Amino acid sequence: MSTNTHDRPAKVTTKTLQLMKQEGRPIAMLTAYDFTLAKWVDQAGVDVILVGDSASNVMAGHETTIPMTMDHMVYHTQCVVRAAETALVVADMPFMSYQVTARQALQNAGRLMKEAGAHAVKLEGGAPVAPIIRRIVDAGIPVMAHLGLTPQSIFQFGTYTVRAKEEAEAEKLLADAQAVQEAGAFSVVLEKIPAGLAKKVTASLEIPTIGIGAGVDCDGQVLVLHDMLGLNKGFEPRFLRRYAELGQTANEAISQYVADVRTKTFPSKDESYE
Ligand code: KIV
Repeated sequence: MSTNTHDRPAKVTTKTLQLMKQEGRPIAMLTAYDFTLAKWVDQAGVDVILVGDSASNVMAGHETTIPMTMDHMVYHTQCVVRAAETALVVADMPFMSYQVTARQALQNAGRLMKEAGAHAVKLEGGAPVAPIIRRIVDAGIPVMAHLGLTPQSIFQFGTYTVRAKEEAEAEKLLADAQAVQEAGAFSVVLEKIPAGLAKKVTASLEIPTIGIGAGVDCDGQVLVLHDMLGLNKGFEPRFLRRYAELGQTANEAISQYVADVRTKTFPSKDESYE
């Protein structure tokens, strides 16, 4: 298998991720929603780019992911796919694009693959959505599942606090993980659950788990790009590590530009044409 400078295959596939789990090599996943940032993410060696419906929050400024539509997801996915040379691009299926009927779910998954160029789709839920996962997988479309804190159900949960702390919910989550694996999912995101439970789920599955707020024992990790780059103000959950403060850097640069315009120190002679 040919590799690039980051020791990744020329193209990451679902098979690559399966192999990484088997070999104990952690999977790095990040979100992206536009061409420019997706290019940086791909070139930095990220294995999977998730075009998350978190675009609803970080791109569109909504409180929740509920307002996201298929047209929004197709647009963001098209932008990311144009940038991704190596990473596997997974597109989120937005709220109500897969819950009504399996037929509608398959048509929408098909749009994300055919119209937007995604390599796989992700949807939220366990045993209740297993038949839908099976239908999509049977059509040749790889599906990533998502358990634990599933943001599309926020109005059912009521809060964004850690899920499955109680025995009963932990048992249900373990069963849901088995159900999505049996339905053919190639991977599962575990969001905001106790680290011990994530470890147990990871050990119990053949497919890779990707954690966010689920401890170090998942097969991989995912963060929302804008959060880890420090582009968001005021979002500081315990699980988030901010790798940069780009928001602050942007603010300083823009303030300096405004000052330069006001004082007529921009543009200079060198920045002007004769
Ligand atoms: O939409 C998203 O960004 C996600 C991740 C938080 C896993 O689903």
